[in-house]
Amino acid sequence: MGNFSKQVAIITGAASGLGLVIAHKLLNEGVHAGLLDINESMLRDEFAEYKDHSEIVGLDVTNEDEVRNAVYKVIDRFGKVDILVNCVGITGMTNLRSHEVSSENLQLVFNVNFMSCFYTSKMVLPYMLANNYGRILHISSIAGKEGNAGMLAYSASKAAIIGMTKVQGKEYAESGITVNALAPAVIQTPLVDAMPEIQVKYMTDKIPMKRCGTLEEVANMAAFIVSKESSFTTGFTFDLSGGRATY
Ligand SMILES: NC(=O)c1ccc[n+]([C@@H]2O[C@H](COP(=O)([O-])OP(=O)(O)OC[C@H]3O[C@@H](n4cnc5c(N)ncnc54)[C@H](O)[C@@H]3O)[C@@H](O)[C@H]2O)c1
Repeated sequence: MGNFSKQVAIITGAASGLGLVIAHKLLNEGVHAGLLDINESMLRDEFAEYKDHSEIVGLDVTNEDEVRNAVYKVIDRFGKVDILVNCVGITGMTNLRSHEVSSENLQLVFNVNFMSCFYTSKMVLPYMLANNYGRILHISSIAGKEGNAGMLAYSASKAAIIGMTKVQGKEYAESGITVNALAPAVIQTPLVDAMPEIQVKYMTDKIPMKRCGTLEEVANMAAFIVSKESSFTTGFTFDLSGGRATY
C-alpha cells in the first residue's frame, strides 16, 4: 500500500481535524498536494515544511467560482489531479428537533457539506477522465447512514453525500476512476469539541467499542481508499464506526 509519489492530490478542509491528518499522511507518502481551506493562515502554519510539494489555497468551498479557481491553481502548478479528498464539513446547529431547525442554517450546512463535494468533484472529474485514472473520497458520516436525532441538517447532508457517491461510482466505473465515501463515527477533533456535551454523549454511547475513533485510524483508512491498490471498490461508503454500523 501507499506509494503515492508522482501523484497529485487535492484535499479540502486540510487545516484541521481529519483533513489535516489525511493531508500529512499523503504528503509523507509522496504526493504533491493542493491544500484547500477557509483558514489559510492555519494551512500556512501547518504545512510550512511542505512548501515545495504543496499549493495552499484559502477559499470558501460554498463558492463555485472559488473552487474552480483553486483547482486551476493546483493544475497550473502540478499539471494534473489524481486524488480528491473532501473533508470540509460543519455540523450546523444541533440538539434540535426537526420543527425547531432553522431553514437558513440547514441550507448553510447543505452548502458547506454537500455542495462543496459536488463542486470539487465536478471540477476535477474532467482531468481524471483525461488521464483514465482518479480516486475521489468524500468524507460522509455515520450520521448520514443512521440519522442522528437532533442533527437533521448534518445527517441529511451526509446522506446526500452517500447518494452522490453511489451515482458517481456508477457513472465513472469504466474510466479508471473510483468514487467512495467514508462514514466515521465520533473522532475527537475541533468539530466535536464545538458540539454540546449531551450531543457528543448521544453519539459515543452508540459505539460498541465504547471509544472515539482516532485520527490515525482515519488517515490510514483514507490512504488505503485513495491508493492505486484499492481498485475494485467504487460507489461504496466505507465504515469507520467501531461497530456502530455493520453494513
Ligand atoms: N470529527 C468527527 O467525529 C467526524 C465524524 C464523522 C464525520 N466527520 C466529518 O469529517 C470532516 C472533517 O471534520 P473535522 O472533525 O475534521 O472538522 P474540523 O472542524 O476539525 O475541520 C473542518 C475544516 O473545514 C474547514 N471549513 C469549514 N467551512 C469551510 C468553508 N466554507 N470553506 C472552506 N473550508 C471550510 C475548517 O476551516 C476546518 O479546517 C467533516 O466533513 C465532518 O463532517 C467528522
